[in-house]
Amino acid sequence: MFTTLLPQQTPIQSSLPHDLFEAIDGLKRELNAIILAHFYQDPDIQDVADYIGDSLGLSRKAAATNADVIVFAGVHFMAETAKILNPDKLVLLPDLNAGCSLADSCPPDAFGKFKAEHPDHLVVSYINCSAEIKAMSDIICTSSNAVQIVNQIPKDQPIIFAPDRNLGRYVMEQTGRELLLWQGSCIVHETFSEKKIVQLKIEHPDAEVIAHPECEPPVLRHASYIGSTTALLKYSQSSASHSFIVATEPGIIHQMQKQTPDKHFIPAPAANNCNCNECPFMRLNTLEKLYLAMKHRQPEILMSEEIRVAAVRPIQRMLEMSA
Ligand code: 13P
Ligand code: SF4
Repeated sequence: MFTTLLPQQTPIQSSLPHDLFEAIDGLKRELNAIILAHFYQDPDIQDVADYIGDSLGLSRKAAATNADVIVFAGVHFMAETAKILNPDKLVLLPDLNAGCSLADSCPPDAFGKFKAEHPDHLVVSYINCSAEIKAMSDIICTSSNAVQIVNQIPKDQPIIFAPDRNLGRYVMEQTGRELLLWQGSCIVHETFSEKKIVQLKIEHPDAEVIAHPECEPPVLRHASYIGSTTALLKYSQSSASHSFIVATEPGIIHQMQKQTPDKHFIPAPAANNCNCNECPFMRLNTLEKLYLAMKHRQPEILMSEEIRVAAVRPIQRMLEMSA
């Protein structure tokens, strides 16, 4: 699945200390490590992290850190981005199988052919993609800066937008630009049921629907606010509403509830009463695996220097364009 990875072993389960939080703290000092965590991680992991953020915030933090070791509690493309920006640092991912269905929906060979068929197009890729796709891109974006970045590109410049068709469609609406969309999507954000959201709205007439732009148009149509995970968190704090139906991975609710304990957050449900609104990849990371990764200094993110050098350029462009 991850063609840039060299094979290595996931640490063998060894005996765990009584107090994992204290042990992780000790290892953090010993390794001069920073723990970066995405909002979709388990509450325990969020509570042990030095920084919790969305993809843009995490990339900025990874670009600026002077720690020797980055422990990345998120999914593979996020840790890979940290490694692209920090070739000399040890970047650890608690579970190497923590992939992303959206990144996997854009295989490099097929995307290379697609790009070759449109040589006059500039390639803007959502950060949820592999290092190989980044290496084929001109500019990377995240859900928090995609509109801002597309707006900075000359109007007569044709653009390929990959891999998320839902974010692409949303950017088209917001910018009034025609984008050539790669037809990728996220299994988690496609699972939300419009019907159940409508039912919830009837049961909670005062609740505002807030949604991530990776959701499909029928869900986005019900949202009074659409944004990245950080943007949704900030909106839940600043809005006068006291109740929210949250159409993104429910891990974010831990921070929402922590920031405004008096407000009420309802996770948007999946269509068939399953827990498929939880990202199965993010959930592969656990506090135990995080501890073991630090203790054994693996699994480590590795990639070819050729791909890394090609992939760092569009990421730096994004950081400059969204400064
Ligand atoms: P954010 O950049 O909003 O954190 O989104 C990342 C992601 O993977 C959403 O599914
Ligand atoms: Fe990927 Fe979707 Fe999980 Fe985000 S929620 S990491 S896009 S699979």
